[in-house]
Amino acid sequence: MKALVYEGPGRKSLQDRPVPKIAASTDAIVRVTRTTICGTDLHILKGDVPTCTPGRILGHEGVGIVEDTGPGVTQFKKGDHVLISCISSCGKCEYCRRGMYSHCTTGGWILGNTIDGTQAEYVRIPHADTSLYPIPAGADEEALVMLSDILPTGFECGVLNGKVQPGSTVAIVGSGPIGLAALLTAQFYSPSQIIMVDLDDNRLAVAKRFGATHTFKVNGDEAKQRILNLTDGKGVDTAIEAVGVPATFEFCQGIIAPGGVIANVGVHGVKADLHLETLWSQNISITTRLVDTVSTPMLLKTVQSGKIDPKKLITHHFTLDGILDAYDTFSRAASTQALKVIIEAR
Ligand SMILES: NC(=O)c1ccc[n+]([C@@H]2O[C@H](COP(=O)([O-])OP(=O)(O)OC[C@H]3O[C@@H](n4cnc5c(N)ncnc54)[C@H](O)[C@@H]3O)[C@@H](O)[C@H]2O)c1
Ligand SMILES: [Zn+2]
Ligand SMILES: [Zn+2]
Repeated sequence: MKALVYEGPGRKSLQDRPVPKIAASTDAIVRVTRTTICGTDLHILKGDVPTCTPGRILGHEGVGIVEDTGPGVTQFKKGDHVLISCISSCGKCEYCRRGMYSHCTTGGWILGNTIDGTQAEYVRIPHADTSLYPIPAGADEEALVMLSDILPTGFECGVLNGKVQPGSTVAIVGSGPIGLAALLTAQFYSPSQIIMVDLDDNRLAVAKRFGATHTFKVNGDEAKQRILNLTDGKGVDTAIEAVGVPATFEFCQGIIAPGGVIANVGVHGVKADLHLETLWSQNISITTRLVDTVSTPMLLKTVQSGKIDPKKLITHHFTLDGILDAYDTFSRAASTQALKVIIEAR
């Protein structure tokens, strides 16, 4: 089968690999119909994720059709149409029982990280009963690809951890797919202001269309000043960091109101400064989270009922043969205006 393989920092290739086989009784093999590329895949290619070693098939998002199941799988059978969660969970360990699937002792974020992922014709899914979701008849497959990772990530790590409330003020730093997913799902709670911050004019224009009340381009200290001016000098109640570089984590520290929450979403590859000399007295909280995907069933209902339309995040389509072009397009978003790229595997 064809598969996109990580070969070490800055290197990847489309290779021919054996079709995966059932390795444990709770595994399923899924024929991938559609997958996509995440900002995290770009972090892996930068060398930011040391757990992902050369030779790994990348990808942790997708939808597909069950091809085979181990004898221990009871909820799915060959031919079932499924959504693949970016997080694998056994459902039984201490962390899973606490709803922290991302820290499952035999799962978590393993797909396209410590085991082979979804940017291939087939993928082996461990703990299939609790890591796959049935796709309702008539659902739009492409929209559901956005539920593997980006919608639950924006919602759980950004909106829920950031305690977005009716009438509150929110700044989302980073208007990539994750920041935009946080923007879409923050609106469940009717905050009074949602300010989007980015370097890229096109992404800010998209944010405006998706419901941002204000958009600011990062330009020296100006964006910070404008956010402070907008909030009577107080700053925002929730600052969501959706980039993953030191500058944006520090930016969030400069715009957080007393009592506010900085909700970090970004994957960081290097250390960032924490300005306790100014924040120690501000009653703020800082949260971090690896997405648990506990909200996936709820988000699926909001997509099915038309409350949110994640399909509008999709800008480009490729086939698996063209996945190197898909990476190129996705990684040059400023010039290609890419948000999420759909890769049709079969
Ligand atoms: N915590 C989790 O579980 C989890 C899950 C998925 C993704 N992530 C991470 O979330 C982050 C965002 O993912 P994405 O797919 O949207 O990535 P992306 O790279 O597409 O988007 C990042 C955005 O940040 C903007 N940006 C870069 N530098 C900036 C700066 N200095 N100030 C303001 N904006 C800046 C870019 O222009 C871009 O629009 C990544 O770090 C990704 O790895 C975390
Ligand atoms: Zn991801
Ligand atoms: Zn578990």
